Amino acid sequence: MTKKICILPGDGIGPEIITEAVKLLDKLRSDFGLDAVLEHANVGGTAYDQTGKPLPEATLALAQSADAVLLGAVGGPKWDALEPAFRAEKALLGLRAELKLFSNLRPAVLYPQLADASTLKPEVVAGLDIMIVRELTGGIYFGEPRGVRELDSGEKQAYNTLVYSESEIERIARSAFEIAMKRNKQLCSVDKANVLESTRLWRDVVTRVASDYPDVTLEHMYVDNAAMQLVRAPKQFDVIVTTNMFGDILSDCAAMLTGSIGMLPSASLDKNGKGMYEPIHGSAPDIAGKGLANPLATILSVAMMMRYTLNELALAEMIEHAVAQVLDQGLRTPDIMSDGKTEIGTAEMGDAVIKAMKKI
Ligand code: IPM
Ligand code: MG
Repeated sequence: MTKKICILPGDGIGPEIITEAVKLLDKLRSDFGLDAVLEHANVGGTAYDQTGKPLPEATLALAQSADAVLLGAVGGPKWDALEPAFRAEKALLGLRAELKLFSNLRPAVLYPQLADASTLKPEVVAGLDIMIVRELTGGIYFGEPRGVRELDSGEKQAYNTLVYSESEIERIARSAFEIAMKRNKQLCSVDKANVLESTRLWRDVVTRVASDYPDVTLEHMYVDNAAMQLVRAPKQFDVIVTTNMFGDILSDCAAMLTGSIGMLPSASLDKNGKGMYEPIHGSAPDIAGKGLANPLATILSVAMMMRYTLNELALAEMIEHAVAQVLDQGLRTPDIMSDGKTEIGTAEMGDAVIKAMKKI
């Protein structure tokens, strides 16, 4: 059956990198049998400028009706001064909540060809391949009550709630165990169970779910120690599962281990495997419109879409293989440039990947 892919370019470098991903999707459709239609909509600051809302109803409706969503990036200085409800981030949080995308997969992979891009010693990061599974629709990001109140003294007090129910923890734990089963069967659950009741429950539920996955080795780690271990000896990790906010922080840390945030894709999945796919880097307004942005994270996000939502494993592998090929050819966008390599722009990088696509 024909699949519908919703394309949301967004702001900053979003449109440029999405153009390359769309070229690739068109190639998959014309030459490699992908049965899909693409439909475009606006999101973020661009959508706000046109409709007064960062997540217009029509965009949300299209995303809801699609099998998969491909998002570029949202936000930029032009919209930073807006009220929180109109900020571009709100579009992202709205899509996550409305599409019930509770499971966020953030791989941190160091390509051997880019080993010198990391700020850590090569022997610490060579061969790094971690998958962070971040809970995405609960925890302190969405917990109620939240707000700002005035105390009797006249002083303001602001508050948020870190809340998790057993079912919310169980479904993200299952998601992570399933992924661990397909990898090296090691799962590290990160919490702050020594201080926070909500993550004490987190630990208990993850431990309970573990009995259904006897082949997976489960370890628990406090978040402060996990942050330290990620920079001390990151290769000890295979899959990490954690809460919304801890996952936000640890995934940035893990991304920088690879030294090349322009290379990292992500997937956000619902319980049926429907997903939103996006590069983990932002909208990079400073280089927007200059043809300098690295499209590889977006192209690798298309590969994740093939793997996790469209069940086109062969296409996923072809894309990943093509990306490795262009790196082997020495082609680099400015963000990953190093001595002796050939610097190219966004469109040339997209073209090079398409040229390297072949059945494997
Ligand atoms: C991320 C981002 C978002 C988050 C922001 C932009 C709302 O940092 O996807 O990691 O905090 O989840
Ligand atoms: Mg973040």
